[in-house]
Amino acid sequence: MRPAWAAINLPALAHNLTVLREHAGAASMLAILKANAYGHGLARIAAELHGADAIGVARLDEALALRNAGVVKPIVLLEGFFDPSQLPILAASGIQPVIHAEYQLLQLEQARGLVQPLKVWLKVDTGMHRLGVPPADAVPFYRRLQACSNVQGEPVLMSHFASADTPQVAQNEAQRQCFDGVQQQLHAVVSFSNSAALLAHVPAHDDWVRPGLALYGVSPFADKSAAQLNLQPVMTLQASVIAIREVAAGEGVGYGAAWHAPERTKVGVLAIGYGDGYPRTAPEGTPVVINGQRYPIKGHVSMDMLTVELGLDSDVKIGDSGQLWGAELPVEEVAKSVGTIPYELLCNVAHRVVLDYNV
Ligand SMILES: Cc1ncc(COP(=O)(O)O)c(C=O)c1O
Repeated sequence: MRPAWAAINLPALAHNLTVLREHAGAASMLAILKANAYGHGLARIAAELHGADAIGVARLDEALALRNAGVVKPIVLLEGFFDPSQLPILAASGIQPVIHAEYQLLQLEQARGLVQPLKVWLKVDTGMHRLGVPPADAVPFYRRLQACSNVQGEPVLMSHFASADTPQVAQNEAQRQCFDGVQQQLHAVVSFSNSAALLAHVPAHDDWVRPGLALYGVSPFADKSAAQLNLQPVMTLQASVIAIREVAAGEGVGYGAAWHAPERTKVGVLAIGYGDGYPRTAPEGTPVVINGQRYPIKGHVSMDMLTVELGLDSDVKIGDSGQLWGAELPVEEVAKSVGTIPYELLCNVAHRVVLDYNV
């Protein structure tokens, strides 16, 4: 019996990539693989993404892990470099930083002896107010990058939507107009759309689109399922049933006896818990699918186990596998039940959960 594992469906990944390519039209694709490819395994997912033009990650160690794994595609560092000591490493490994603040520009201008100049992306803050240079500074900033001897070619101009998952929100249009105002002065190569903007066709005039979540077969929208978007879930998180017990009416189950059986019933114990990244905050009733049927979680999720109520007539056996999310139970639904977003559930899948690509 296996404890917790995540089956990674690579044909589903390829399918999603094809679907996103269709939405992207002529735009190039920067596939977002940060946080261990949203929990799916960085190097392996990168190796499968033949149809992507470049890979985006958040941290230098993620980018270097990709290079060490033999990835030769362009790699973009979405938060750029954190201090000047990273610049020679970026140059040596051909990694492209996003420049989002003046301290980075100064460090880039002052760097000496890089083995080659860097391709860079310039991020403009069009309204998300997280990273990016103010729109009023963007043109002179861009010109300084163009003039910098440590910069190779033309910087890509980029921004990020705050609310693309709700396409009707006025902020999207305001951000786009702000971006267009900068772009009209620069005529740069541009990148704006994440999964939601790409799938909702928020007009962004991208030369580069940047999907993450949708690649993994997950819908970014509250009111549209992955299936409706023709996306297939890539990860199915599973665990074995390692014990089944009968409990009498009134008996408590698990830590703190948080749930008491209202009547005589059977409880199944699955070998997965918050030590595997399954959220402890999953409330009673969050479903687990075993043999095609849904069973509700009862009691607190513990570190290595969780319990579901099977009912007296259940034919679930020790050794059966339960599905925490994936092919038969959308991670979007579990996230909603838990009060979080699918991104967090996927990223939190722990190191000890075996990623199984042979499915
Ligand atoms: C700058 C940037 N672009 C693109 C993405 C991909 O977003 P999504 O996973 O919603 O497609 C992210 C992820 O947060 C990001 O930070």
